[in-house]
Amino acid sequence: MVTSYPAAPDIDVLTSDFPIPGFGVVPINSFVIKGKEPVLVDTGAVVQSGEFMPTLRSVIDPADLKWLWITHTDFDHMGSLHQLLAENPKLRVITSFLGVGIMSLAAPLPMDRVYLLNPGERITVGDRTLTAVRPPAFDNPSTTGFYDDKSGAFFSSDCFGALLSSVPHSAADLSDGDLRDGQVFWATLDAPWLHKVDAAAFDRELDGIRKMSPTMILSSHLPPAPGRMTDRLLASLATARTAAPFVGPNQAALEQMLGQMTGDK
Ligand SMILES: [Fe+2]
Ligand SMILES: [Fe+2]
Repeated sequence: MVTSYPAAPDIDVLTSDFPIPGFGVVPINSFVIKGKEPVLVDTGAVVQSGEFMPTLRSVIDPADLKWLWITHTDFDHMGSLHQLLAENPKLRVITSFLGVGIMSLAAPLPMDRVYLLNPGERITVGDRTLTAVRPPAFDNPSTTGFYDDKSGAFFSSDCFGALLSSVPHSAADLSDGDLRDGQVFWATLDAPWLHKVDAAAFDRELDGIRKMSPTMILSSHLPPAPGRMTDRLLASLATARTAAPFVGPNQAALEQMLGQMTGDK
């Protein structure tokens, strides 16, 4: 089920819980930024595209959207991309050169429908300027988050996501332990290269976000986190670098799980 709730006066979250069997749930968030030139940030999961569009329509008329910011081209971010492009001929996609290439593998994406932005570059969309930022952790080389100068929010893509037992509407409602453990688990799963990164180099990346001092962190996989939580989110991510790498269940474990399920019947 895809639902919506406000994160700020001019920013709505569209979200669904995606279960990872045996481990918990991860929220899948997209965001609508209302303003002179409305922006949709990501478009939900492919498997939920039928539910995403009605919920989007309850928040904004897709015909009113001017921009689509695709943070990266994974299946949990691209669900309704091509439907939206077909419905709204004025809509343009903000992405990277690599992002266009990958999106074009799903369906053709005319170059006059895209706006290419590299980390550090900015675009003014109506009454706000969005600055592209590569987050400290990511799972896809096309990943580009951004800082919104009007709200002061940092849209961090997959970075700062967490595996949770239940998903509140604010990360402030999670316990310290649930947030830290959930973030570390997600980071080792989603960015399995983290443990290979030089500590000082990674600290510089984290410091860049600290200096940005966002009013809010809007991750694709964590409830909205008010700016006072930034240090905690950064500390968890620093911990993830030295945490045990995630190793998923192997075939023997899968067969044991399936055997238990059959035995339970
Ligand atoms: Fe991803
Ligand atoms: Fe994601």
